[in-house]
Amino acid sequence: MPAVADRAFQRCISPACARTYGVDEVLVGCPACGNLLDVAYDWDRLTPPKSLKDFEAKWSRRHDPLAFSGLWRFHDLLPFAPPEAVVTIGEGQTLLHRSAGVGKYVGLDTGELHLQYEGMNPSGSFKDNGMSAAFTHARTVGATRAACASTGNTSASLAVYCSVTRLMRAVIFIGSGKISYGKLSQALDYGALTVQITGDFDDAMQRVQEVSKKLGIYLVNSVNPFRLEGQKTIMFRVLEALRWEVPDWIVVPGGNLGNSSAFGKAFAELKELGLISRVPRLAVINAAGADTLYRLYEQRGVRWNNGKPDTQTIDGYFADMDRERRRASTIASAIEINRPVNLTKCLRALENCNGVVRQATDQEILDAKAQVGANGLGCEPASAASVAGAKQLVAEGVIGRGERVVCILTGHQLKDPDATVAYHTTDQDQFNKVLGSRGVRRASYANRAVAVPNDLDEIVKAIQLYG
Ligand code: F0G
Repeated sequence: MPAVADRAFQRCISPACARTYGVDEVLVGCPACGNLLDVAYDWDRLTPPKSLKDFEAKWSRRHDPLAFSGLWRFHDLLPFAPPEAVVTIGEGQTLLHRSAGVGKYVGLDTGELHLQYEGMNPSGSFKDNGMSAAFTHARTVGATRAACASTGNTSASLAVYCSVTRLMRAVIFIGSGKISYGKLSQALDYGALTVQITGDFDDAMQRVQEVSKKLGIYLVNSVNPFRLEGQKTIMFRVLEALRWEVPDWIVVPGGNLGNSSAFGKAFAELKELGLISRVPRLAVINAAGADTLYRLYEQRGVRWNNGKPDTQTIDGYFADMDRERRRASTIASAIEINRPVNLTKCLRALENCNGVVRQATDQEILDAKAQVGANGLGCEPASAASVAGAKQLVAEGVIGRGERVVCILTGHQLKDPDATVAYHTTDQDQFNKVLGSRGVRRASYANRAVAVPNDLDEIVKAIQLYG
């Protein structure tokens, strides 16, 4: 049986500190040294599976919510809470879709391009993976209120878990004008307390941490280590869909760097448990207008360095950013983040997975998004950064044309419809207003609507001409 509290604990990620804390403590950083925390396990005293194939036994038990959940069917690999504490709303029913069309666009020839579509989650993004795990932890510590800063998806996810379970009250911090309308509508509809502050996501993130501490509100942003335990399962589902074969590459958009950190941890643990024989390579893709990781990792050579990353370079980078008042700016609203809270964890993941970082312009992101829409399940702009990044890496020869690549589509196609409609429009003013202002010049893959008079012959003619 999984989940015995004393066999799971929290541990500082810095090997020099490595202090441990109980899972019953509510922490978002190491009280001793301020570094991030992991959830860690005493695997020798737990019962992880002998083979990943063992999880297939859960497929026939769909009536059991813990077997049905795409998250909790992997409970043995995130055993920090007992089964009776688990909070699930049926998250993780997501698909790995093999797309020859997107593969061709990216430049693979004999290789395979897969799209892991996390937009299928109840609130429309991968966040539900993390939220289910964070809620489970919050329940075990008796929290009554939960807060997050968000550009949209985290808030919608928190709000739906509060609404469905009635276990906590949601408090959401958003930067004014920096949340997508659809997502705001979800938060309001689900009854969350929505606090709009002047500023952007980075400002909201800072404030929510202060306020949570002051008021003792449970924080569900990805500094919360339990959230990342849930996000590990995205990788378990990818492996499951590939019949437990490890792909060559995982390509993921990078914002607050929670996913990349969680994926690195997932593979490190699977390797340690002998459940996989090799780890895939990891590519994290920033938006060009929010490229802190790219600049630090690729341009300044900052590395995990056995848990001692070059903090002088990192601190200097942020000091310059503040002095120059540089703000994140990209159409990919979900990754419009200049101060990624999981930076050091992500550096560790990049080391474990021989990783690379790239940045994609809004033009590249929107072109890739149009290709995903035309050849796959669709996604929001931030998600398409993964496909744009994969295309760059194939062109550079870093990803081989015959390799098996999985791009993570983190959010639903309907998240930022303004950007999508502006890309496909024939209205130049609308295009300029939404996209031209961000340096997007062309819509090479636009699917233009056809305007016809309300006349049967004209309509028939138009369909015969274009259909
Ligand atoms: N993709 C989507 C769709 C997101 O919503 C986010 C983050 C990311 C990627 C970045 O993921 O932080 O793991 O690198 N969205 C946050 C939010 C900021 O508020 O919903 P990361």
